[in-house]
Amino acid sequence: MKKIDVCLSPDLIELYDLNNKVVVIVDVLRASSTMITALANGVSQIRPFSHVSACQAMRRSGYLIAGERGGDIIDGFDLGNSPLSFLNEKYFGENLAMTTTNGTLAIKLSQKAFKVIIGGIINLDAVAAYLKAQDKDVVVFCAAWKGKVNLEDTLFAGALVDLLTDEFEAECDAPIVARAVYREAKDDIIGYLKNSSHVNRLKKLGIEKDIEFCLTPNKFSVVPELEGDDILLK
Ligand code: MLT
Repeated sequence: MKKIDVCLSPDLIELYDLNNKVVVIVDVLRASSTMITALANGVSQIRPFSHVSACQAMRRSGYLIAGERGGDIIDGFDLGNSPLSFLNEKYFGENLAMTTTNGTLAIKLSQKAFKVIIGGIINLDAVAAYLKAQDKDVVVFCAAWKGKVNLEDTLFAGALVDLLTDEFEAECDAPIVARAVYREAKDDIIGYLKNSSHVNRLKKLGIEKDIEFCLTPNKFSVVPELEGDDILLK
């Protein structure tokens, strides 16, 4: 049987062997949801960066520059980190360079993986189908918040474990914990997360619309994949 593991924070990733595994990067609020939405709406490719200056330098290569720190758009950037900005194919055919507090960092920490894909509640079923079709073990890598565990990424990991339970066995206790969170939350995901730390952070910034969008299951059926330096749809 294939194995599934869950890494609840980038600070724990050194404990996981990513060799020959498919890594699912999840940052439900909001980096992975923004990437999925942008690519599903025609953005050609997204290059992730951990550092602001390296991201900004991509403007010279014709890339649009997007990102946040603390949830807010970075000064001088074209776009922040809202999935809603990319709806209606507004940036069709554009290349995007992106840096976020946690999401793009998690991608950078996954270079040893066999494959890196991008998951969120908005493409949950498509990610599950993709993983079922692969003959590889899986690590769900939660971007979390500055090293601390968060509820929404854990919930997504648990939803995936739940969908894959017939074909994958848990490699440690983290998938079991995540699945228990999902099972408790599944009938009212938005209500369950209403007091979570990043939901509150985004509410303070007045970004409620993003929360509802990012927590709505299966808006898209695409599975973004890292190829070389860029994330794209294959
Ligand atoms: C991150 O990468 O930490 C997030 O996507 C933050 C945000 O909500 O913009």
